[in-house]
Amino acid sequence: KKISVVIVAAGSGSRFGDPLPKQYHHIGDKTLLRHCVEAFMQLCPPNHIQIVHNPAHQHHLDLAIEDLVDSGMLRPTVPGGATRQQSVLNGLRALQDASPDYVLIHDAARPGIDHDVIFRVLGALDKYKGAIPGIAVHDTIKQCDDDKAILRTIARDTLMRAQTPQGFDFKTILRAHTKFEGQEMTDDASLLEQMGIAVKCVAGSERNDKITRRDDLARLGEHFSDQQT
Ligand code: CTP
Ligand code: MG
Repeated sequence: KKISVVIVAAGSGSRFGDPLPKQYHHIGDKTLLRHCVEAFMQLCPPNHIQIVHNPAHQHHLDLAIEDLVDSGMLRPTVPGGATRQQSVLNGLRALQDASPDYVLIHDAARPGIDHDVIFRVLGALDKYKGAIPGIAVHDTIKQCDDDKAILRTIARDTLMRAQTPQGFDFKTILRAHTKFEGQEMTDDASLLEQMGIAVKCVAGSERNDKITRRDDLARLGEHFSDQQT
């Protein structure tokens, strides 16, 4: 099967709170974005990795991956949109002429992605149109009303925290993203769920958690044993 990758890196990192978007910060000697790109480089055919970026940060993008351009693995980068969902759709559209069977959609803010997680996602695509990595929830989860009075406790053993890369049959996810363009959802699997298409959850990893706030960088950096943050 021909596999393409979309890496969305067009966000501005408002919760991270630094003028330099988080995907261009470093863990060890590499930016978060580059950690992601390298994790996928051996897995797909040449010219099948589609980075989506914000042209306002072109200089930082170039610094992060310039020397990888000669590898022939990267497609010309395309601009993102105002929302993550729009950025993904721009990436998927740009991949259309590569006509992949499967696409893996990954957040540049998850530098801890590794081959084990990627292969579990791909493995599930034999049977499912979509598959995502997830982590079991250890906290007790309360659903509350507007005054934060508790309405109910959600059965924890049914809950998973969704990660990326989320893998899909390419035509199916492109159709879903086209259909729901402009309607906000926080991940790609949600779109298939809305259409009643089954999506499988496979085991993710703590190392693959997203960098959202500043202190996530130091915490996650500890998983990169040979590196310093
Ligand atoms: N993303 C994107 N285009 C957007 C928004 C987000 O490509 N318009 C990307 C981010 O770069 C990130 C991933 O989607 O790799 C996950 O989004 P998130 O963690 O929310 O990043 P930001 O939107 O940049 O951060 P914040 O929500 O705190 O502003
Ligand atoms: Mg965001």
